[in-house]
Amino acid sequence: MNMIPWSVLLFLCVAGSHAMVYDTIVVGLGSAGTTAASTLAQAGKKVLALEAMDRVGGRVNTVPFGDGLVELGAEWIHGTINSRVYETAIANNIDIVNQTLDFQFLVSDGSPADTKLISELMDFAFQVIDDPPPVPEPLGQYVTRRVNEHIKEKYPQIANDTHFIESFLYCMKLGMEGYESSDNWNDLTTFSQYEELDGHQHASWHRYGYKTFFELMLNTYNNGPGYPNLDIALNKEVSRITWPRQPAEDAVVSCSDGSVYRARSVIVTVSLGVLKERHNTLFSAALPSEKTTAIKIMSMGVIGKIILSFEKPWWPKNMTGSTFIWKAEDRKSIPKEDIWTSMMSGASVAMGTSNTLTLWLCSEAAKLVETLPEDVVKAKSMEILRRFMGRDTNIPEPTAMLRSNWYKNPYTRGGYTYDNILTPQYPNAREDLGKPLLDSAGNPRVLFAGEATNRQHYSTVHGASETGYREAMRLLNNSKKI
Ligand SMILES: Cc1cc2nc3c(=O)[nH]c(=O)nc-3n(C[C@H](O)[C@H](O)[C@H](O)COP(=O)(O)OP(=O)(O)OC[C@H]3O[C@@H](n4cnc5c(N)ncnc54)[C@H](O)[C@@H]3O)c2cc1C
Ligand SMILES: *[C@@H]1O[C@H](CO)[C@@H](O)[C@H](O)[C@H]1NC(C)=O
Ligand SMILES: *[C@@H]1O[C@H](CO)[C@@H](O)[C@H](O)[C@H]1NC(C)=O
Ligand SMILES: *[C@@H]1O[C@H](CO)[C@@H](O)[C@H](O)[C@H]1NC(C)=O
Ligand SMILES: *[C@@H]1O[C@H](CO)[C@@H](O)[C@H](O)[C@H]1NC(C)=O
Repeated sequence: MNMIPWSVLLFLCVAGSHAMVYDTIVVGLGSAGTTAASTLAQAGKKVLALEAMDRVGGRVNTVPFGDGLVELGAEWIHGTINSRVYETAIANNIDIVNQTLDFQFLVSDGSPADTKLISELMDFAFQVIDDPPPVPEPLGQYVTRRVNEHIKEKYPQIANDTHFIESFLYCMKLGMEGYESSDNWNDLTTFSQYEELDGHQHASWHRYGYKTFFELMLNTYNNGPGYPNLDIALNKEVSRITWPRQPAEDAVVSCSDGSVYRARSVIVTVSLGVLKERHNTLFSAALPSEKTTAIKIMSMGVIGKIILSFEKPWWPKNMTGSTFIWKAEDRKSIPKEDIWTSMMSGASVAMGTSNTLTLWLCSEAAKLVETLPEDVVKAKSMEILRRFMGRDTNIPEPTAMLRSNWYKNPYTRGGYTYDNILTPQYPNAREDLGKPLLDSAGNPRVLFAGEATNRQHYSTVHGASETGYREAMRLLNNSKKI
């Protein structure tokens, strides 16, 4: 055992013996944690929520920018039917806007894109993803093969145009890596268990901001009073969670600032990236091997945003998004240190402002951009914008820039999880990750929620919320039984 200074020991004894015992401590106030905490609080439980960051929301982060609000993390409600997120908005009379994302294709040398051909190929590629091969294989490899076959069959006149095919597949690769938050589209599997919700796929909180979802759940919207039996502590990094083995024992949660809290149960909602980095020290006793295996074999990549604001919008009024088509020769002429700029997949118009544009990055590029100096990122981003969008327009300098840092952030360590090539071998990894740790009487005492634990709806805010509800209900069901 490590030596513990006597003052800390004394503090532990004092805190331990006199502090109140909560029904449940929720670790993390992202979508999963906020849902769990508010569900339990509404059911009358005494709840403490501990959040390491100085804000609620986790991988949702709405910030004032431009002439309104922008989202550094999640932006859309992906599917409105049976979405806990959409239903929360509607139940509170918030008018959600269905954003039409009509992406125009722009080519890296400024030449006009063959929009009809590219759209048809893209539709085909997405259909192919929904038509997986009998034996799972890496997604990139599969899409490449099927697209090549399709071109030979349907467009024989371009079948030998290797430059065009390469630039199209590179665009698909960036698109898939960004969409799935995967570091490589060949680490994605064709055997994905993801299920889309029905309804509109890009419903937006626009000028309300995604943060409104959290305010609604916590009953703090429009200066609401919150819940009297829910205590929230921000800037509270949890460093250790003990798993009570005996029914009479409490769970003990220690924080890096030395504070210690007790509860009958703990719901852990930290991301897979955080679990990968810290599960060894975060839990006492160590986690069972089925859980550590799940943590090891599952993956979470990175996606990133660079958001630029301008005096006023200079892009076409009807533009909602642009997809960048990189010609191989243009891409290869980019200096080595700027390779990340050739990994920008496009730009989109955000609905919480009228004067900002969002540039999208994935994988290594997203990681790198988090570490580069501000002026470099700004100057290079403008170069890319001017290359793709500045042919007929004199693009002015931006008034400000914001960028995400989901990889660098020690409390997220990435974008979101995806089904990787090991998924066919471990189809139950997400369930294993979400299984509660039980005491000797079989009661759930340390429970797990978060997008990573949702087999069908991982990688989304609604999926994360479902898992928070699931674990709150597990506790409520269990307490009814006793
Ligand atoms: C750039 C980006 C764009 C996205 N776009 C969309 C989108 O358009 N639509 C969509 O549905 N989803 C989107 N997502 C995914 C979505 O944001 C996540 O799936 C969801 O928010 C995850 O919620 P969660 O509660 O599982 O985890 P998190 O939000 O990560 O919450 C976990 C919380 O735990 C806290 N924590 C971590 N460690 C500790 C500790 N030691 N002690 C205490 N607290 C700790 C963290 O600070 C965090 O607040 C996007 C994500 C990113 C990064
Ligand atoms: C592709 O082949 C056709 C004949 O089938 C030929 O006319 C055309 O020039 C070739 N294009 C390229 C890019 O090689
Ligand atoms: C958005 O789309 C959903 C589902 O398709 C629909 O139910 C809803 O009414 C639409 N909202 C608006 C404001 O049109
Ligand atoms: C926008 O309008 C222009 C000019 O009217 C048109 O050429 C273009 O196709 C439109 N773009 C979209 C994405 O609708
Ligand atoms: C809790 O009980 C409800 C109603 O019986 C059930 O639908 C749900 O699956 C249970 N949840 C858990 C996690 O046990």
